[in-house]
Amino acid sequence: MCGIFGIVTQNEQQLGPILVEAARRLTYRGYDSVGAATISGSKIDLRKDKGRVEDVARLYNIAEMRGQRGITQLRWATFGEPSQANSQPHLDSDGDMVGAHNGNVVNNVELRQQFIAEGMTVRSTNDGESCVHATERYIDRGMGFIDAIRCAYQDLQGDYAYVIGRINDDKLYAIKKGSGLVVGIGDGFTCVSSDLPSILPLTKKIIRLEDGEIVTLWAEKVELHSVVDGSLIERAPEIITEEMSSVQKGGYAHFMLKEIHEQPQVAGELLHLLENSRDVQVILDRIGKARNVFFIGCGTSYHACLAGAVYFARLAQRAVIPVLAPQFTPQYLPTVGPLDVGIFVSQSGETKDVLDALQGARATGMACFGMANVIGSTLTRITQAWLPLTCGYEISVPATKTFTNQLITFLFLAYRLGGRDRAELSALPDLMQKTIEQVGDAVETLVPAVNVWNDLYCLGFGTSYPIALEGALKLKEITYAHCEGMLSTEFKHGPLSAVTDGFPVLFVTPPDGVPLIVSGINEVTCRGGRAIAVGEQDDRLVANASDLIVIPGPPREIAALLAVIPLQLLSYRMAVARGYDPDFPRNLSKTLTVD
Ligand code: F6R
Repeated sequence: MCGIFGIVTQNEQQLGPILVEAARRLTYRGYDSVGAATISGSKIDLRKDKGRVEDVARLYNIAEMRGQRGITQLRWATFGEPSQANSQPHLDSDGDMVGAHNGNVVNNVELRQQFIAEGMTVRSTNDGESCVHATERYIDRGMGFIDAIRCAYQDLQGDYAYVIGRINDDKLYAIKKGSGLVVGIGDGFTCVSSDLPSILPLTKKIIRLEDGEIVTLWAEKVELHSVVDGSLIERAPEIITEEMSSVQKGGYAHFMLKEIHEQPQVAGELLHLLENSRDVQVILDRIGKARNVFFIGCGTSYHACLAGAVYFARLAQRAVIPVLAPQFTPQYLPTVGPLDVGIFVSQSGETKDVLDALQGARATGMACFGMANVIGSTLTRITQAWLPLTCGYEISVPATKTFTNQLITFLFLAYRLGGRDRAELSALPDLMQKTIEQVGDAVETLVPAVNVWNDLYCLGFGTSYPIALEGALKLKEITYAHCEGMLSTEFKHGPLSAVTDGFPVLFVTPPDGVPLIVSGINEVTCRGGRAIAVGEQDDRLVANASDLIVIPGPPREIAALLAVIPLQLLSYRMAVARGYDPDFPRNLSKTLTVD
């Protein structure tokens, strides 16, 4: 997800150690490259490369860097491969300005062409460089920094924040649009960063920027301006009293809760990225020519594969075989070859079950593509092309934001393959945010009654079937209760015998499956069971279910995806009420590199 940090001091001094420590404190966001720049008088010192903070810092002796101002950046590759040129910060054409960004500039390719046509020196394919040139463009026309950044803001599309400075000046400038940005005010210095962990060791006095605000940093003071009209904004600093561990959790009690709340943001970033990804077309072209297409994964990632197969069938009329990775080898390996395509899905990119299936498939000549969150993982290195999930680090063991971004990636591919209008998809981040806000109370109310049970079921149908399986996995993973996920219509073929007074059964209701779900609900309630529906506001659900957790009413294919959010929250609340740590459930590990 990238991270930026900038510091302004009164006099030239050794800033290297401060920059390395700030970068280290941003590593939790995920990164593949790191860089630092210092500015003193008429000199800029820039050192950067792909690799880990410790390695790049040692190789380039970043600790020795001196300056009156400093910038460091951790990059998580989206535009351009991880490389020294694409690492940040970036220089302007003449090498007298330097800047770095986080987020995505979605019109990066078009902007680069413009900059080159205007005679600027473009050294990378990275969108952070576009932020620098977009500012340079207006500085070169004689504008001051505030006005130049205001004009650049009109040119730079997407969600980002960037920090920039120039030689023979004593200030840094930063702007926030969609990505986080916090200012720190210390004794004889000021600083700015994507997030608090890099600021708090230096100062507890901070100002949180809002979208559309530009900050000018001097060593002794900061000034905020509106990007709309350049007007001065008054905002009093606040003093942070929280411990660092809670700050790293963004103020949430657990990483899982933080990561659930990050879903709308990372969904938005992913959609921007997919719109601009060349690999999407590469993968779709190959799928278009394929004999059989397989989606392959384990656990949560397998549930995403199941959902992907439903999306492909419904939205692009393309049959796909979703398969658990270890079953791929005995069941399908003898049948596949160069005519077939597999998308191997793994948050970590290191799950041995998935990599074993992938190695076997490669040996047959099958076209192997990937979907992963961890850049540089084995899966990303041995597939022909892969799509990044752009979630930043997912620290909590139960997968949440990586699951929703896997679903969004499959939805996007299916929309593209089916030639559908993707405008619907752009509503997703807002709908996810609305869901998080809307379901909280209903989930909270249910926890005491459901939590007395150590057996429950989570049922779904059609698009909501994979979501029901995922909800059941979340529940058993962190509450340690037994929860079975199942096709709703299968319940009457056996498990119905488990229903007694108050027995909880969750029904994840797809908008086009209400009558069928209502039948299932009545089979449970007439035996005294508690049927908890998750679905859109619908009189039939209100009349028949014992409880209804209402999700917003989006277009049909998107609805199922939203329904996983209350299931994630229910699992989380139940685990916490049981006194368990949802981030680190017993017996489980985030990355399973064993058989
Ligand atoms: C559940 C969970 C696991 C993983 C599974 C595969 O919350 O996280 O079920 O989904 O171990 O892991 P990846 O996606 O890394 O291959």
